[in-house]
Amino acid sequence: MKIINTIDEMRSASRSIKKEGKTIALVPTMGYLHDGHLSLVREAGKKCDYLVVTIFVNPAQFGEGEDLKIYPENLSRDKALLRNLDTDFLFLPAAQEMYPPDFQTYVDVKDLSKNLCGEFRPGHFCGVATVVAKLFNIVAPDIALFGEKDYQQLRIIRQMVEDLNFDIKIVGMPIIRESGGLAMSSRNSYLSADEKAAAGSIYRSLKAGKKLFLAGARNAAEIKRAALEKAAGEVDIDYFELYDTNSLEPLDRVGEKALFAVAAHVGKTRLIDNIILEEDKS
Ligand code: PAJ
Repeated sequence: MKIINTIDEMRSASRSIKKEGKTIALVPTMGYLHDGHLSLVREAGKKCDYLVVTIFVNPAQFGEGEDLKIYPENLSRDKALLRNLDTDFLFLPAAQEMYPPDFQTYVDVKDLSKNLCGEFRPGHFCGVATVVAKLFNIVAPDIALFGEKDYQQLRIIRQMVEDLNFDIKIVGMPIIRESGGLAMSSRNSYLSADEKAAAGSIYRSLKAGKKLFLAGARNAAEIKRAALEKAAGEVDIDYFELYDTNSLEPLDRVGEKALFAVAAHVGKTRLIDNIILEEDKS
């Protein structure tokens, strides 16, 4: 695995690969890798000739008072995990490399950034879209993989790719969970044992909502009520709503399909999770 720190070097590596007529898969991350990240890396490795993983804790997507300064890291462990999965290149730029002092251009995917986390983290998705656009231009991948855990992020990236004509295939990957059901996240490392137990109730709530949907309920308030009954008292909710899977607008009634998404604080840790409500077609 070659470790690259500069944009110039990453670009020239990518250019040589293209010259050989080979393909590149990209997995962008902020590091402190867990099995959720690794599921993306594994799949990416299968899909292309060369595998590029990026680790960059992107300051542009953190708001004031958020956890940029304490975001967990363990670079030596991350490197070992990525080597194990036959990563070809690890792109590891410094913040000044990505955002030089005169940096001033941002990508804003307007409507899709309004609801869900957009309401509680102003500017967050603009930071995400901007850094992902930069990584796409630097690495020039054929495909890029993102997790469905960050459903809104994935939807925004798909929209950006369409709107700005990036010639890149976006692949969404299922949510990987801990044994208790909690969606894996680098931020889970902030949780105490008690908080982790309470956090486990988030997925149980979503599943209770889905169960009611599968039993025929279509009224959003009814589904939410059943779900909320399962949420632990320690879980402080930002949003817990049903949304159109495409427009991300809130729904009062569910049709064939809906996104049931939640963001909640457990102690000082903000967690997100979601489940798709859809009839099982199998
Ligand atoms: P990060 O939180 O490190 O996540 C990197 C990728 O891993 C994202 O696509 C995310 O959706 C996916 N992922 C995280 N937890 C997952 C889980 N439990 N199951 C499946 N996939 C999971 O998301 C970011 O970084 C950043 O916003 C980034 C896209 C890198 C831009 O800075």
